[in-house]
Amino acid sequence: MKRNVIVGQSGGPTAAINSSLAGVYRTAIDRGANKVYGMLHGIQGLLEEKYIDLSEHIRTELDVELLKRTPAAFLGSCRYKLPGIHEDKAVYEKIFAILDKLDIEAFIYIGGNDSMDTIKKLSDYAILTGHQTRFIGCPKTIDNDLALTDHTPGYGSAAKYIGTSMKEIIRDSFCLEYPKGLVTIVEIMGRNAGWLTGAAALSKGEDCEGPDLIYLPELTFDIQSFRTKVEQLLKKKTSVVVAVSEGIRTADGKYVCELGKDINFVDSFGHKQLSGTASYLASFIAGELGCKTRAIEFSTLQRAGSHLASRVDILEAYQVGGAAVKAADEGDSGQMVVLQRISDDPYQCATAVKDVHKIANDEKCVPRNWINKDGTYVTDEFITYVEPLIQGDVSPVMVDGIPRHLYTPKELYKK
Ligand code: F6P
Repeated sequence: MKRNVIVGQSGGPTAAINSSLAGVYRTAIDRGANKVYGMLHGIQGLLEEKYIDLSEHIRTELDVELLKRTPAAFLGSCRYKLPGIHEDKAVYEKIFAILDKLDIEAFIYIGGNDSMDTIKKLSDYAILTGHQTRFIGCPKTIDNDLALTDHTPGYGSAAKYIGTSMKEIIRDSFCLEYPKGLVTIVEIMGRNAGWLTGAAALSKGEDCEGPDLIYLPELTFDIQSFRTKVEQLLKKKTSVVVAVSEGIRTADGKYVCELGKDINFVDSFGHKQLSGTASYLASFIAGELGCKTRAIEFSTLQRAGSHLASRVDILEAYQVGGAAVKAADEGDSGQMVVLQRISDDPYQCATAVKDVHKIANDEKCVPRNWINKDGTYVTDEFITYVEPLIQGDVSPVMVDGIPRHLYTPKELYKK
């Protein structure tokens, strides 16, 4: 590498996304890049010429280690849909003029399916105009819904957080006895894919019976059969714990969270903000069965919990960052780095690249045969798949009893 690299982060953050950033930075420097720039708030910020020179922020090996342990997008993120390449040429001319000004050889974008749409469009435009910059996608999403990769960095750490927190919730739920029982409903992110919600089953083991019911968005949610199942369980036990995906829908296609309120916020990719499923179902059950209920929404905590990150996840996130730079350096463009599992036990995984056109905007869901027959739990195959991804810990660097993060660039907050 002789010229410069630019890297951006996009979409929902994870506990591992900054480890990929560290991998991009280190590998670009090791391969001889002159400068490594970071877009502030992804492509949206780049369009406003907001970027930083990463070497001014990552100065020492300790900074690299801290960055790997820092949750949320260090550079800031965005959910910005680029127009089609024939719809608004001016946007592309502006982006490519900025890339020329910065003498960019490789453009690396760390993101999920929507962010791969950006790589797809930019690499298509480069081919159309004979531009030499190479565009590579680096996978990231707690949702684990990217096609053609075994899994996505960010998922393992979120799954570990969910399995652990679920176990703590279940234990707590048996402490106090209520006359008509306690029903706890835990809402988990993942939009239309149930990979994260299924991870609630990781709490099950010798010392924990796991949640009683798990509802994934891949299957239609029937509220009456849910009520019946909870009622039957309450006849046998004092506490019932249910994991539900934020994206479960009724037969008419309506999200359960929409039954309680109107969802007004929709992002530029047309995704509705999903939240409120657990509180809707908790009120419904309390009204129907007269028991005590509690709604828990993991919300931001499940993707920001770097104190509980999976070592496998943080290492793989770093690895895909490095692989993205290597791919660009070797001449690839319009590709995304993927993880290919070689074996479950011992767990082994390698990186490769795949055409981003086959990945962008697609959603990989949990296969039907990894969900039990009546749609209320995941199968052993699901557990075999996810278990290797949550292994090992990354000790936080503790300062005054609290994990230390890499200081956020102050430019991120400037209006
Ligand atoms: O795309 C990842 C994700 O975490 C989804 O699981 C969730 O629906 C969404 O982001 C929430 O995004 P936001 O923080 O923009 O509300």
